[in-house]
Amino acid sequence: MSKVAVVTGGVGGIGTEICRYLAKGGYKVAATCIASEVAGADEWKSQFSKEGLEVEVFQLEITDFDDCAKVTAQIEEKMGPISCLVNNAGITKDGTMKKMDKDMWDAVININLTGAFNMTKQVFTKMTEQKFGRIINISSLNGRKGQFGQANYSAAKAGIHGFTMAIAQEGARKGVTVNTVSPGYINTNMMKAIPEDILNKIIAQIPVGRLGEAEEIAQLVAYIASDAAAFMTGANVDMNGGQFIH
Ligand code: CAA
Repeated sequence: MSKVAVVTGGVGGIGTEICRYLAKGGYKVAATCIASEVAGADEWKSQFSKEGLEVEVFQLEITDFDDCAKVTAQIEEKMGPISCLVNNAGITKDGTMKKMDKDMWDAVININLTGAFNMTKQVFTKMTEQKFGRIINISSLNGRKGQFGQANYSAAKAGIHGFTMAIAQEGARKGVTVNTVSPGYINTNMMKAIPEDILNKIIAQIPVGRLGEAEEIAQLVAYIASDAAAFMTGANVDMNGGQFIH
């Protein structure tokens, strides 16, 4: 029987490719989406059916702990025990400290960091009991180095790896690996929020000379989710075109 993977923010740019490569790797995949994405969910799903891949969509409000519990239970009932969780849901609300208000801070911390706790809490103990689990937390280049105008996002994404390092130790003897993937600037809709002149300056700083592609991140995630990656835990893997070499 196939194992089940949950991908939060699964219908987004990087999320969609993560769903695809996990499904190609043999997982049955549950993608979570927010209320505004539900209308397009059937069409989104149909691309996978055409490829013979098993992917379901569940609406989730990741900032609501009780909703995370409810939706996780629905996924387990429909698809079976969860073996892999990819904490991928994330937003940006960029602004310099002068312009960043409390709502911008709270929104990013609640979705990008507390959201990962809210979902991991639903599955972690069960993964240790079933003696197998893969938790993959999607962080960012900007959590590694900080980014002008992203105090909220950089803090949340740096926090994600602290979370990874702590629970990697708790899962290590029980077959549960926990790792962070830190993408650089990837060619998705998120880039559209960056003014064009600033984005061009950012691309000029990427040694590889281009934005990354979502498929490139997804194939790394699929490897970490596989049986082959059992010895890898607590790691933070960069994929950023050489933009942050340290
Ligand atoms: N370093 C130093 N100074 C900078 C700067 C930088 N990187 N960028 C802008 N400035 C300066 C400007 O020259 C200007 O200076 P003066 O006041 O002396 O003229 C000043 O900062 C502008 O300050 P403002 O508060 O007015 O800034 P703004 O409102 O014009 O724009 C911003 C601020 C929205 C943060 C804009 O700079 C921006 O969009 N930056 C890109 C942020 C970014 O990289 N976001 C990543 C999103 S994608 C993502 O996050 C995915 C991932 O994981 C990688």
